[in-house]
Amino acid sequence: MFSALTGALELCTVEVGRQLGLYAAVRDGADNPADLAKAAGIDERYAREWLEQQAAAGFLTGAFTLSPGMVEVLLDEGGPAYAGPISEFALGAALLTPRVIEAFRTGAGVPYSAYEHLRHGIAGFNRPMFDHLLATEWLPAVPEIDQRLRAAPGARILDLGCGMGYSSVALALAYPLVTVRGVDLDEHSVGEARRIAAEAGVADRVSFTAGDAAAAGGDYDLITVFEALHDMGDPVGVLRNARSLLSPEGSVFIADERVSDEFTAPAGEVERMQYAFSVLHCLPATRAENPVVANGTILRAPTLLGWARDAGYARPEVLDVENDFWRFYRLR
Ligand SMILES: C[S@@+](CC[C@H](N)C(=O)[O-])C[C@H]1O[C@@H](n2cnc3c(N)ncnc32)[C@H](O)[C@@H]1O
Repeated sequence: MFSALTGALELCTVEVGRQLGLYAAVRDGADNPADLAKAAGIDERYAREWLEQQAAAGFLTGAFTLSPGMVEVLLDEGGPAYAGPISEFALGAALLTPRVIEAFRTGAGVPYSAYEHLRHGIAGFNRPMFDHLLATEWLPAVPEIDQRLRAAPGARILDLGCGMGYSSVALALAYPLVTVRGVDLDEHSVGEARRIAAEAGVADRVSFTAGDAAAAGGDYDLITVFEALHDMGDPVGVLRNARSLLSPEGSVFIADERVSDEFTAPAGEVERMQYAFSVLHCLPATRAENPVVANGTILRAPTLLGWARDAGYARPEVLDVENDFWRFYRLR
């Protein structure tokens, strides 16, 4: 309890630093309260307290500078080690906790659209994996998918539960011949996804639709679902629909949580984090979909493979891809 409190409070101080641009100011040379106050446009007494607290916590050095490693973690948004959005997760979960408490009483859901900070936290946290691993490690784990996307002009990808679309954009950037359509239930995410695709210069090959993955239409060579199947209120319906949209040689490629195959307590650190997300976010958000199934975050491999068989896939398989957070599946 005590170390969890320290962690929760320190994450909130990270969010103070992120929202006020304090880390960027420190990186650019503001290593004392007066300079930080001037550079960031904040009060000097607060600047001193924050600098000291950040150094005490180990985020800054004792000389109030950022180590190169912490610059990567807190400020390098395009880099593989970027983890700044972790503090936004904490803030987002805490802000919605009163609504979750009420939902526990009534059995109602809390819609995904209510979780503004978590939406940005999820997108920002997952983005480095899409930018750096999706086309270098994950899809190449199935050479025939990777080769087809590289070689076949006009290959079509459907990205279900695309959120703010970083995966759809990464696919388009990595595979210049493909077109990608992202589908997500959350309209706000879809609006952000369109902006992000335009900024990345791929809006001519990447489009987004707001809607239920179970009702998406079209004809695709690859259908992807990144950390979203566990959130969907009708996962078997989504997988069945996806099967009907696949070209003859097509596959569904899924990434979902890397949790143990059975309930175990106490759980490992990643599963503990995922369970906390489940209580505070994923389960209430799925309950708001009038679900057939409300799985929560903890989507175990035997459950997913069972859903795939129920949806008519003859050969669902777990892929041999290493990742701290996700497990990967191919359905045919
Ligand atoms: C944890 S987020 C992951 C978003 C994105 N794939 C990523 O990795 O950043 C789960 C997403 O699933 C979407 N979602 C939930 N139920 C859905 C449904 N039935 N159809 C389409 N999208 C859905 C949510 O709106 C949310 O954007």
